[in-house]
Amino acid sequence: MTMDPIPSVIIIDPNPNSRLDTAEAVLRANLELRGECGYGTEATVLAVRQRPDIALLAIEDPSARAVATLQALQRLAPETVVISYSTLGDLAMMRQAMRYGARDYLIRPVQPDALAEAVGSALQHESRRREAQKTGGGDEAPSARGTIVTIHSPKGGVGKTTISANLALALRQLTEQEVVLVDADAQFGDVALMLDMEVTRGIGVLARNEYDLSPPVVEQYLDLHQTGLAVLGTAADPDDWRAVTGENLPTILNSLAEKFEFVLVDTPGAVNAVVESALTASDLIVLVTSRDVSSVKDARAIISILDTWGVPRERVRLVINDSTNAPLVTAAEAERTIGLPATTTLPYDRQVDVALQTGAPVVLQTQRSRFAEGMFDLAKLISGVSGEPRRRPRLFSAIGIAGRRGS
Ligand SMILES: Nc1ncnc2c1ncn2[C@@H]1O[C@H](COP(=O)(O)OP(=O)(O)OP(=O)(O)O)[C@@H](O)[C@H]1O
Ligand SMILES: [Mg+2]
Repeated sequence: MTMDPIPSVIIIDPNPNSRLDTAEAVLRANLELRGECGYGTEATVLAVRQRPDIALLAIEDPSARAVATLQALQRLAPETVVISYSTLGDLAMMRQAMRYGARDYLIRPVQPDALAEAVGSALQHESRRREAQKTGGGDEAPSARGTIVTIHSPKGGVGKTTISANLALALRQLTEQEVVLVDADAQFGDVALMLDMEVTRGIGVLARNEYDLSPPVVEQYLDLHQTGLAVLGTAADPDDWRAVTGENLPTILNSLAEKFEFVLVDTPGAVNAVVESALTASDLIVLVTSRDVSSVKDARAIISILDTWGVPRERVRLVINDSTNAPLVTAAEAERTIGLPATTTLPYDRQVDVALQTGAPVVLQTQRSRFAEGMFDLAKLISGVSGEPRRRPRLFSAIGIAGRRGS
């Protein structure tokens, strides 16, 4: 058996203290450190001379110099994969880095385990991409990748699907970028029902039929909502759901992230291998709880489970949703028990239930409710886009996936 060579790394970070911490993490992760430097020419020169597998790039506010360095690296040292790192979950900044081609991001101070894992998966992805290019598979731009957001609660019926559908539509309206909603509740999923859509084939058939889960293949299984939101739904087949596994789901999500700016994933109210794979593949987790004692307790439990899976807490956003009008626990108690502040608190809204019957989610309705406003706030936070969403849903974008389907 041949041993893989040890991945080589350079650190680009203008702050000497932080650079020192990162260097220590690199060594503890058993990676080869080939040099350290600040932004600008220094960085490109080092990358071109050393040709490292990985460049670890610090990004802090203001991010202009880091972004300029990232762009120069893409141009002058395209073989080097960039992983960015930043202080505590500054999502807008991380998304910006990913948009300019960073493959992954880590939270400062960089932890050796998280680093080793990020490097491993970045290089694996890179070698698959090169392989695909060699076999004529792709003219894809290097690494620019969308954000995977999984909506979860271990408890059933607390509003995961409601939030997934509304958040996906809010992101679409707010950013006007390409958004896809994946129903990972392959057995009982009702994303399509909530959006009043027909699922042509869906995720179960995709997983059953296709060995190759590359972006062009996965795209053929999407259906399109009238707003231009793409959906990978579940069709009511008694058996297909079994084909969706913890192995193929992350591949499907990563393929979608190559094409879509936002990949939203609705999950079942359970903890199993499929859910684990979605949660660990996500850039961000929206953890939903109602103000019900058992839901709060289960949210607390999943936080501990995420710890054991090595998912950093910074990736979790807590959303308290009053899915009934008889909440029992105060929001403060829920936050204390779960150990996280709530990012958004969504009120009970009768319209939400009515919307379920009519298939027209509340964010699409002209009469904005507090629930809808809460969804837009969350969408702004995730996208880093501020300002007012278009009031009227936009129909099919000209370059939307409709034109690409079946081609
Ligand atoms: N804020 C709210 N106000 C009023 N009703 C709500 C609210 N949030 C959710 N509901 C209602 O609660 C019910 C359950 O919601 P939903 O199906 O989204 O939960 P879920 O977590 O996806 O459930 P499951 O675990 O079964 O997939 C639905 O009838 C929905 O309309
Ligand atoms: Mg659901």
